[in-house]
Amino acid sequence: LKKILITGSNGLLGQKLIGLIKKNGPEFLATSFGENRNPELYEKQNYRSLDIRNKNAVLNLVRQFQPDYIFNTAAMTQVDDCENNMDDCYSLNVSAVENLLDACLNHGSSLIHLSTDFVFDGQDGPYKETDIPNPVSYYGWSKYEAEKIIQNSGVDFAIARTILVYGIVQNMSRSNIVLWVKNSLEDGKKIHVVNDQWRTPTLAEDLAEGCMLLATKNANGIFHLSGEEMMNPYDIAIRTADYFKLDKDLIQEADGSNFTQAAKRPPKTGFDISKAKNVLGFQPRSFDEGLEITSGLILKYKS
Ligand SMILES: NC(=O)c1ccc[n+]([C@@H]2O[C@H](COP(=O)([O-])OP(=O)(O)OC[C@H]3O[C@@H](n4cnc5c(N)ncnc54)[C@H](OP(=O)(O)O)[C@@H]3O)[C@@H](O)[C@H]2O)c1
Repeated sequence: LKKILITGSNGLLGQKLIGLIKKNGPEFLATSFGENRNPELYEKQNYRSLDIRNKNAVLNLVRQFQPDYIFNTAAMTQVDDCENNMDDCYSLNVSAVENLLDACLNHGSSLIHLSTDFVFDGQDGPYKETDIPNPVSYYGWSKYEAEKIIQNSGVDFAIARTILVYGIVQNMSRSNIVLWVKNSLEDGKKIHVVNDQWRTPTLAEDLAEGCMLLATKNANGIFHLSGEEMMNPYDIAIRTADYFKLDKDLIQEADGSNFTQAAKRPPKTGFDISKAKNVLGFQPRSFDEGLEITSGLILKYKS
């Protein structure tokens, strides 16, 4: 691997990727929207603020740095926000991807792009890469739209679809199910968690490793990268409470129809990850191993 430019380096996946890239040694430039919040980059010169919606800024930075790979982890990721602010969602999840593709075409860079299980309608998960998307939310639609534009762009690409990513980094952009359950129960708050949606949750570290494998193996096409255990959010909450020895009585089982949310959720997604295992040698941890890694980091960041 030669030179990597990464977008969204302040995000959960972005920070995990920087950790791996630093260990493996390729030259890199980290970019994100705001000021750098990744402690691994505080003393380094290789961070730039970059709004990927700004086409000239993207083209200029890529011209200067000339990356072999662009890892695009930046996105508008909150599903209800996307439903309520469709123009903002389109400009980050679709138009900005076109900016990156133009830059890739100019410099012969390859693109590794992140997508989602929400491209599917959730009627018959787990899904393979060959299954036909049919998004039920604007977020899912925007990610599917970007996938199609990438596939028709002539740029050398890999698309990593992932599901319900959990884990911890410092100064996070947003929470995730494991941290939300842990923090709520520690504060003695009752939580209502749905039992009628099914997912194969993904440890952020595993996703970052999968993305690196896409680059080191020169993989092309779509890959499903997630954990292997099919669970509903209620199960995830119970297992998280068990692991951290928290009060399970605070967790109330709910069905999604009792929730008023702007965007529809696909009922059952989950991935069949055999392609990633066979082609890349991808091997995600179990959910318990994921909790152990996350718990270790929570302690480390506290001290
Ligand atoms: N998290 C999940 O459960 C999940 C599930 C399926 C798919 N995915 C996909 O996986 C990818 C990574 O997700 P994640 O959870 O790591 O996301 P995240 O933690 O929300 O981070 C996304 C980052 O994008 C950056 N960003 C926002 N607007 C930007 C702009 N205009 N220009 C440049 N950067 C901008 C933000 O940077 P600043 O902090 O600097 O503002 C933010 O840190 C996304 O493509 C997402 O759609 C995630």
